[in-house]
Amino acid sequence: MTFKVTPWEVSGDLDYSKIVKDFGLEVINEALMRRIEKHAGELHPLLKRGIFFAHRDMNWLLDQYEKGNKFFLYTGRGPSGHTHLGHLMPWIFTKWLQDKFGADLWFQMTDDEKYVFSDRLELEQTKKLAYENALDVIALGFDEKKTKIFLDTEYAKTLYPQALKVAKRLTFSTAKATFGFTNESNVGEIFFTSVQAVPAFLPSVIKGKNIPCLIPYAVDQDPHFRIARDILPKLGYYKPASIQSIFLPGLKGGKMSASEENSAIYTTDGPETAKKKLMNAFTGGRDSIKEQKEKGANYSICPIYHYYKQMFMPDDKELAELEHDCKGGKILCGECKQKLAGRVADFLVDHQKKREKAKSRLDKFLIRD
Ligand code: TRP
Repeated sequence: MTFKVTPWEVSGDLDYSKIVKDFGLEVINEALMRRIEKHAGELHPLLKRGIFFAHRDMNWLLDQYEKGNKFFLYTGRGPSGHTHLGHLMPWIFTKWLQDKFGADLWFQMTDDEKYVFSDRLELEQTKKLAYENALDVIALGFDEKKTKIFLDTEYAKTLYPQALKVAKRLTFSTAKATFGFTNESNVGEIFFTSVQAVPAFLPSVIKGKNIPCLIPYAVDQDPHFRIARDILPKLGYYKPASIQSIFLPGLKGGKMSASEENSAIYTTDGPETAKKKLMNAFTGGRDSIKEQKEKGANYSICPIYHYYKQMFMPDDKELAELEHDCKGGKILCGECKQKLAGRVADFLVDHQKKREKAKSRLDKFLIRD
């Protein structure tokens, strides 16, 4: 069983316990969950269900928080296309953290990254996509007084001097070992991780004092933050704490793929398109109805089930019933998909309304220099 998880490629059968070991993460245990629950008053389903499954330094972050040293949140998006539901998932969790901990959020749009790493996108395109993606961020309901969104190319005067400080302390050999660069990699790619490190300490630079940082992200981004954690203390800043999620699986089985439109549901898809994608999805079902009724299905490999678990069935009792009925052959895949399509359609209609409204609010969130 082989797999690959890098910021630019996720493939194969993911073994998350091996990822924890290889990346040097800590699994989120019961004690940490209780600690988060104590402050938040509840646990988000994404935590309770192990979708956010690992972390670094969360206990340190909460020690600081308990001493009155509040943290800020930092996350981001590489604007290489429209936003799909798998992108929204960590942002939904980030919004919950903002609400529960009253934290500021710095949201980075890496239009530079997606330009230097792409052989098809021009800078004008990644910039335009960053604005499209920002609408989805805003539509999720982040607090406009506590949230700053910026494009790297539009905030460069502020970011660049700080990126230089990181870059000077990062050797090519470390970047190469961490990201697998070769002699054919362009130098923009090699430099880029320095830019992604900056928001983890920029608020400390601006305020002139150290502020703890928490970065929620899907686990493929981890290499960037291993580097950031190594270098920030050398600049006199805290190592950023972080919390990592697994991925929402692709509808065709395996991962979501930008080149396979039907493997993901985009926030810009109409309800009918979304329904079609869901009805055609791979499932954990059997070859025939008869066999499924007799032997039941396998929800653990089923993307439809994971959509429910991660986003569309927050009620634990309902989810337990679904698992039971699926395993016992009481529910067939067609019915299960239909029900999900209804929930996804409701979500999309609502999200798209909010997305429209976000167009006139962009300036309340975007910072430039
Ligand atoms: N590189 C990320 C991507 O390709 C975007 C990003 C920038 C990011 N800063 C981040 C993601 C911080 C998570 C956390 O999507």
